[in-house]
Amino acid sequence: MRTILPALFLTASALLGMALPATAQDAGDAARGQKLADTCMGCHGIPGYRNAYPSYSVPQLAGQHPEYLVIALQGYKARTRKHDTMYAQAASLSDQDMRDMAAFLAGSAPLKTGAAVDAPGKDKSTACVACHGEGGHSQMPNWPVLAGQKADYIEHALRQYKSGERKDPIMGAQVAALTDADIRALASYFAAQPGLQTAAYKK
Ligand code: HEC
Ligand code: HEC
Repeated sequence: MRTILPALFLTASALLGMALPATAQDAGDAARGQKLADTCMGCHGIPGYRNAYPSYSVPQLAGQHPEYLVIALQGYKARTRKHDTMYAQAASLSDQDMRDMAAFLAGSAPLKTGAAVDAPGKDKSTACVACHGEGGHSQMPNWPVLAGQKADYIEHALRQYKSGERKDPIMGAQVAALTDADIRALASYFAAQPGLQTAAYKK
């Protein structure tokens, strides 16, 4: 199962014309990214910062795969991800800007590692860890790390895949059968794992 998943992802991406990250050739210039990301830090660099309406935590970006952050920014720009503020932030960014900011934000604090914590919701996470990795530590650049992500943000993201406000063929299929209780349990399980952190300025 595990070995055919990348092939499935590539096929789905090719069919839908989704952009795959160009980061294999270009890792992004984190020093330039830090300068560009000043406005981003007003939300993503403040521990505990929340989106106002509806109220949920802004996502943790440090330790995330930079390739995934670029995919997410392209999604807001293309409006396949619905969020007006992030659309406004991403709309004018070039691919190079996105790669540079992603390199800075992802690398601004280390991904916390350590054994997966036994927490409620683990029993429901079996299907997810096939892609998102043991305890949510994904090994694939296109598949986001979930470990340590804010629980209320994970819940929000899962509900958006379910409602279609976030369009992704893989996650759309994954969430179709989840109940609200499943969503809450999965979110609290992945949030309890050591992993992502709030972005921080490099000293
Ligand atoms: C006003 C607060 C605010 C600012 C400023 C802001 N963001 Fe965001 N960002 C958010 C919120 C809230 C979300 C979650 C949106 C959603 O629900 O999809 C988000 C989501 C993201 C994501 C998706 C993360 C994931 O795990 O999928 C990325 C990447 C991102 N922002 C990068 C940036 C960058 C780069 C900038 C600066 C150019 C920026 N943000 C500026 C609030 C902000
Ligand atoms: C076949 C691989 C695969 C499986 C299985 C899978 N996911 Fe995903 N997941 C992805 C991909 C790819 C994305 C990025 C989609 C996008 O660009 O929006 C993603 C995105 C997410 C996000 C958004 C993260 C963020 O930072 O915004 C969450 C939350 C998530 N998945 C949770 C889950 C949960 C919970 C399960 C199990 C019920 C699951 N996934 C199963 C591949 C998978």
